[in-house]
Amino acid sequence: MGTQPGASAIAAVSRVDAARSTDTVIAQTFGKVIRPREGRRSASRLYSGALLTLGAAAIHLAVAPGHFNEYVPYGLFFISLGIIQVALAIAIVVAPRRRLFIAAAAGTSAVIGLWLMSRTVGVPIAPAPWHPEPVGSLDLIATFMEATSILLFLLLIRSPRRPKVRGRVRVGLATMPAALLAIFATWLGAGSALNPMPVAFSAAPAVPGQAATSVAGLVAAPGNEPIKSFTLTAGVTTIGGRQAWTYNGTVPGPEIRVTQGDRVRVTLVNHLPDATSIHWHGIDVPNAMDGVAGITQNAVPPGGTYLYEFVANDVGTYWYHSHEDASNQIPRGLFGAIVVEPKSPPTANVRDYTLLLHTQPGGSAIQANGSMNLHLDARPGESVRLRIINAVVPGTDGAPLYPALVGAPYVVEALDGHDINGPQELGPERIPLGMGQRADLVFTMPGSGAVRLVGLKAASLLPWIHPATASVAIGDGAVPSINLSSVPKFDLTHYGVPALDPVADASKYDVTRVINLDFGLKFHNGGLDFSNTFDDMPSPFEPPLRVREGQLALLHLVNNSPHYHPVHIHGHIFSIVAKNGHRLTGSPIHVDAVLVSPHETWDVAFRADNPGIWMLHCHALGHAVSGMSMTINYEGVYTPYTMGSRSGNVPE
Ligand code: C2O
Ligand code: CU
Repeated sequence: MGTQPGASAIAAVSRVDAARSTDTVIAQTFGKVIRPREGRRSASRLYSGALLTLGAAAIHLAVAPGHFNEYVPYGLFFISLGIIQVALAIAIVVAPRRRLFIAAAAGTSAVIGLWLMSRTVGVPIAPAPWHPEPVGSLDLIATFMEATSILLFLLLIRSPRRPKVRGRVRVGLATMPAALLAIFATWLGAGSALNPMPVAFSAAPAVPGQAATSVAGLVAAPGNEPIKSFTLTAGVTTIGGRQAWTYNGTVPGPEIRVTQGDRVRVTLVNHLPDATSIHWHGIDVPNAMDGVAGITQNAVPPGGTYLYEFVANDVGTYWYHSHEDASNQIPRGLFGAIVVEPKSPPTANVRDYTLLLHTQPGGSAIQANGSMNLHLDARPGESVRLRIINAVVPGTDGAPLYPALVGAPYVVEALDGHDINGPQELGPERIPLGMGQRADLVFTMPGSGAVRLVGLKAASLLPWIHPATASVAIGDGAVPSINLSSVPKFDLTHYGVPALDPVADASKYDVTRVINLDFGLKFHNGGLDFSNTFDDMPSPFEPPLRVREGQLALLHLVNNSPHYHPVHIHGHIFSIVAKNGHRLTGSPIHVDAVLVSPHETWDVAFRADNPGIWMLHCHALGHAVSGMSMTINYEGVYTPYTMGSRSGNVPE
C-alpha cells in the first residue's frame, strides 16, 4: 500500500484517512519517503548503498588529479562525478525516498554504461576520441562497488513497508558486509589512484642556471677503429605456432661477434607494434648508447630506427636485450648474445660456443640457443670454451639456474665476461647463475664419450608442474649420468688465486651506501603489489646514488627478503669485496651483477669512470618492474628524457 506510484496511488488516497492522505500527497510530490526505522533490511540496504557510493566517489576523486594532468576535461569529469556521488550518498541517508533511489540507480547505471563505452568503442571527448582505453584494476573496483549499489537501490525502490524492527545492532550487522567491502575497496582504489605511474619522471632533471651535460651528448669519441656494422630488425614472428618478438626473425636474436677494439655499429629497426630499445648488457658503452628508455633515449617508436655505436674495449661474453618494457619484451624473445673476442685469437683447436639459456616465448620451458635438444660438435682431445649466458626469466623468487658440467674436469675461466685469476680445475659443481649472469667454462674433451650440461631447472608457479628443459650435449658418445643432489655448489668467494684489486682493496671509499633489498605490499604504478624494492621505495622513488667522475663507491647490499636478487649495474663493473662480512679469499671477482641470496649481505665496489645516468636494478624482471630499480647519477649530467605515462618510456 502506498508503494504504487501514479493513478493507482491517487485512487488509494480517496479510501484512507486524512493523515495517511497527507503522507501520500508528499509521496506524490517528492517521492515516497522511506525511513530507516521502517525495517532493518531496508535500513541496512540504505546504509550499504550509501557507503558503496561514497567508496566509488573516493576513487573518482583520487584519480582526478592524475586525469587533470592527462586531459583537463577528464579531470573535471571525475571531480564532478565524485562530488555528485558524495551528495547522493548523503541524500540517501538523510532524505531517503523512492524517486531518489530511481535516480541513483539510473545515474549509476549511466556511469557504468559510459565506462563500458570508453573501454570498448571509446568516447568522443577524450585525448584520443573514439579510442578504447585499457581496463585497469581501479575501474574494476569502482565499477564493482557501483554495480552492487545499483542492486541495493533497485531493492530499495520496491522495498515494501515492513513491520517496525527495533535494533541498531541488527541493522549494524546487516550493513557490515557492505561497510567492509566499501572500506577495503576504497583503501585499495584510493591507494592505487594516489600512487599512479608518474606522468613524466626525470631520473636527473636539468638544474636551471647550472652548466650540465646531457646524456644525449655522451657518445663514443670519433676514432678510426675497424667498423663492424649490424642491423637488428625487431618484429613479430610465429615460431612453432607461437607469436614471438624477434630480432631478425629468430629467438634468440643473431649472435654478434666482434673483436676487441672494433667500433660496433648496430642499427635497430622497429617493426614491432610497440616502442622498443636495445641495451648492451655488461658492456661499458657510452651513456647515450645504453638503450634505457626514458633515461638514455626515448623508446624507438613502431616504424622508427636508432643507431647504436660503441667501441668494444673489453673482451668477454655479454648479451643484448630490450630495455623498454623489458619484463614483457625480453620474455617475448627480444634478446641475443654478443661476444667480444680477443685481438690475438686463441689457439686453433679451441671450440668456442655460446650457450644462451632462455625461456621459450610465452612459456616457461628452458631452451638452449632456441633448441630443446642442443648438440655441439667437439672431438676427443679438443679444447672447448662454453660461454653460458643465463637469460632465463626466473619465477617470482628470482632464483638462479644451477648449471653443472659433467663428463670432463673444467675451469671457470670468466664470470660476466671478466677473467678469473688462476682458476683451478673443478669436478662437477653447480654454478649459481642469476638472470643476466654469465660463466665461461673451459675444458678438454675426454678420450671418449660426450660432455653434458645439466641442472637447468625452470621455475614453475605450481610445484606439480615441471616445465620442459633443453638437453645439452657436447661431442658424441655415451652421455655421463650424475646424481645432482650430491654435486656441490660453486663458490666464487674462494676460487682462483688472490691478486691485487685496487677497487676491492681500497682503504677508503668516497661514497658508501647501504641498500636494503626489501619485500612487502606496496602501492606502485597505480596498483597494489607484493613488491621487491630498494629500501622500501618502489622505483622511481629510491633516491639515486650520486657520484663524481673518478670516485670510488662502495655498496653494502642487505637482503631482507626471502628472494634472490641478481643486482645489476649498468656502465660499470663491480669488484666484489665481501660476502656476509667475509672478504674474498680467492681471485678478484669482477662482475656486472651480484647474486644476493635470501638474507645475505654483499659488499661490492666500483670506480665511477663512465659519466652518465646509469641504472642499478635487480635483473629478476618481475622484481625490477615491481620497484627494485634505481639510478647512479653523475654530478653535472642530466637527462632530457622522462619515464612514465606521457612518454611511454618504461625501462623495466
Ligand atoms: Cu640486462 Cu638493465 O639490464
Ligand atoms: Cu630481485
